[in-house]
Amino acid sequence: MEEKRANWSGQIAFVLAAAASAIGLGNLWRFPYLAAQYGGGAFIAVYLLLVATLGFTLMLTEVAIGRRTRQSQLTAFSILNKKWGFLGIIGTIIPLLILPYYCVIGGWVVYFFKTYLLMAFVGVEPMGAGAECSKAFFDSFITSSYASFAYAVFFIAGCAGVIVLGVKNGIEKSNIVMMPLLFLIAIAISVYVMLMPGSAAGLKYYLVPDLNSFKGADGGFSVALLAKTLLGAVGQMFYSLSLAMGIMITYGSYMRKADSIEKCVRRIEICDTFVALIAGLMIIPVVYLFAVKNGIPVETAMKEGPGLMFVTLPKVFASLGVAGAWIGMVFFLLVIFAAATSAISLFEACVASVCDLFKMARAKSTLIVASVLIFLASFSAFGYGVWGHITIFGMQFLDFFDFSANSVMMPILAALTCVFAGWILKPKTIFEECEAAGAVMKAKRFYSFTVRFVAPVLMIALLVSETCRVLKLGGWSI
Ligand code: PFF
Repeated sequence: MEEKRANWSGQIAFVLAAAASAIGLGNLWRFPYLAAQYGGGAFIAVYLLLVATLGFTLMLTEVAIGRRTRQSQLTAFSILNKKWGFLGIIGTIIPLLILPYYCVIGGWVVYFFKTYLLMAFVGVEPMGAGAECSKAFFDSFITSSYASFAYAVFFIAGCAGVIVLGVKNGIEKSNIVMMPLLFLIAIAISVYVMLMPGSAAGLKYYLVPDLNSFKGADGGFSVALLAKTLLGAVGQMFYSLSLAMGIMITYGSYMRKADSIEKCVRRIEICDTFVALIAGLMIIPVVYLFAVKNGIPVETAMKEGPGLMFVTLPKVFASLGVAGAWIGMVFFLLVIFAAATSAISLFEACVASVCDLFKMARAKSTLIVASVLIFLASFSAFGYGVWGHITIFGMQFLDFFDFSANSVMMPILAALTCVFAGWILKPKTIFEECEAAGAVMKAKRFYSFTVRFVAPVLMIALLVSETCRVLKLGGWSI
């Protein structure tokens, strides 16, 4: 059965949905940790510049392609040019790599929320009073035989429920509830953190550019370190704005012609960056304070990686006394909202592709996609547990999926999309779409230059650097 293509109810609904997709684990976990690692303010300055330039160009391209073709990415490229239809196939594989492991992490977040809920209301302390066992607690959960998988299935089922309800009744309505709550909770926690005695030093660490972070071993300015920071920021921008995942093409395909793509893209970027900055305000000063109080080197505490959210933060919450359990509960609720709204958007991109390709009803394609997701998620969930002995290029399943999507396929797809838009389709077609409702696109020259030259070069640099890092080939790996 063919269904009439859905539409957002308006510009705000589109911006909210795209922002809900963009704001996710990338903002709450990855951004603060990278900012801390790459010298705080210096990283933030580079990041802001990239969002306003490269991020703008990439997002505008994807949304315009979606709206012009009224298709999800699987079929959008081939409609514009048969020979470039393969981009749709690459783009459809990417969500299948990312989404299952993202849902596994979503399941971890749900589990932590439940733990804090019990701590706050029932007073149980599964991590020990001082959360001194938080690492053992986290490890035993992710390596458990079934628990981590069961939580992932729960998370997937929740997202599927929203998708089945449709674009207006499901995605739009859930965003209207979750997004304002997410903003409120994030602002409340960051204000609480800023009011904590001694937080100023942590804030300084986070926000003030430290040019020492570009000093090499010989004490002089290191171009390689600057390049690493730049590529770290490119990778983060790309992930955080949900680019090269097919989401913006799919969401653009539901956009009304009357709405201005240029304005919407700017607004989405502002929301996403705002939450990333706030996430840093919530996390970095408390981790800083905690490190100083406990005699842990600040650098070590900041470079925890995945453990920053699941191991270090629980210790920090425990050090806050009774309030800690409540703050932990509210914090993980915030993370659930962010992760769920992002996962829903990628889930939707897959469901829409199946609907478009097989002309299938939404409910049926949601069921098919959910079953595939559960199957694929089992690899990431069991990969840290019972299948822990299986590795690919030395990586466990979850890390391998993350690497192959974020570091290999997404930069390739983004670079090719820019080549396609800049040289084959030509910027003029993108401008035509942006000006469909009579609005004049302002950044035309800038767009043409970035899409043709800057974006492909930076994407390829990111691909090379990431591949070198993982395959331990040395060089400018970030
Ligand atoms: N922009 C999202 C984030 O920052 O978390 C990226 C994302 C990842 C979206 C995975 C959706 C998803 F399933």
